[in-house]
Amino acid sequence: MAGPDENEPIPLARPEIGPREEELVAEVLRSGRLLAGADGRALRAGFCRVARGRGRGRGLQRHDRAPPRGEGPRLGTGDEVLTSPFSFVASANCLLYEGARPVFCDVDPVTLNLDPEAATAAAGERTAGILPVHIFGYPAAMPELEALAAKHDLGLLEDACEALGAVDSEGRKVGARGHLATFAFYANKQMTTGEGGMVVPGDATVAARLRNERNQGRAADMGWLDHSGLGFNYRLSDLAAALGVAQVEKLAEMLSARERVAAMYAERLGGVESVEAPIAARGAERRSWFVYVVRLGEGTDRNATIARLAERGVAAKAYLPCIHLFPHLRELGYREGQFPVAEAASAHSLALPFFPAMSEAQVDRVCQELAAALGQGAFRE
Ligand SMILES: Cc1ncc(COP(=O)(O)O)c(C=O)c1O
Repeated sequence: MAGPDENEPIPLARPEIGPREEELVAEVLRSGRLLAGADGRALRAGFCRVARGRGRGRGLQRHDRAPPRGEGPRLGTGDEVLTSPFSFVASANCLLYEGARPVFCDVDPVTLNLDPEAATAAAGERTAGILPVHIFGYPAAMPELEALAAKHDLGLLEDACEALGAVDSEGRKVGARGHLATFAFYANKQMTTGEGGMVVPGDATVAARLRNERNQGRAADMGWLDHSGLGFNYRLSDLAAALGVAQVEKLAEMLSARERVAAMYAERLGGVESVEAPIAARGAERRSWFVYVVRLGEGTDRNATIARLAERGVAAKAYLPCIHLFPHLRELGYREGQFPVAEAASAHSLALPFFPAMSEAQVDRVCQELAAALGQGAFRE
């Protein structure tokens, strides 16, 4: 197993930044303009092309179908939204900003995504929307959730932040349904702009509203310093967008590299006891690999495992804490024991180093060290 990087620490994530990123960002710096302009438009165009996707899966259909509710979702105080407790906290926080209440429902034990049966059981008079999260890049049960939304005339908001390129059980790219879908470009994501992300609206009305609100409440036909209502500054700078344009150009390559690393892990982890690897696909569903999160068996000491891995230069992290147990959600009355499947997943899951440039030697080393940390010898005969 000896290799040139044998003793180098292996981080959890690492973005793929190369000469093209440097070139495009430097162009913006040299241009003397740092506005949200041409690069933002180029990023939007490029992103839509890749997210729509040629090849596998029907992609995003922007503005071309009637939403279940004419105006799009307008959540307000007291509205309830069915969502997953097993997610990054942002997916619940966005509801709290609007005064809406996240109503958590338990998750499916295999996909770790919002369980449609639990969501159906939780739907009530105050339910105004459903917010599925495609956790760890695995597509949520979108056809079932879409049917539930249609039945009760609910808004459908897709959190596709971790799942750019994933395909659902009907062969549709994630982000293709609902009133809007969000994608995130933080540094560990499938593509990055450093921070920020992209919202894909489901129809022209939502698109116009988003354009207005991200720009301090200025509609497309309004002049500078003219405002039609309350808005925000959610513009992406051209510096960030230029980085994104370079990332979009090589997105297919980066997604394939992630698949390759995941396949190497799956093969090697088959030989490590008490470690369950995540599924890559089921029927037409395809994961877009974001993180590599394994489940440790009952009786293993996760914290001790993480500490032993750290001593050996391998980063690992307990992943993810359940959202409903954070202090600001406990204030709404949430407690331990309410979502046993999500809580069990949260208690046993462990993120291993995962990034497109991971070498076979690095994957080998992580698996060897994991086996050793769990008290097993070499993971292969
Ligand atoms: C599931 C999920 N939702 C939302 C977000 C967006 O969070 P942020 O706005 O901090 O990038 C992320 C991460 O980027 C995420 O993983």
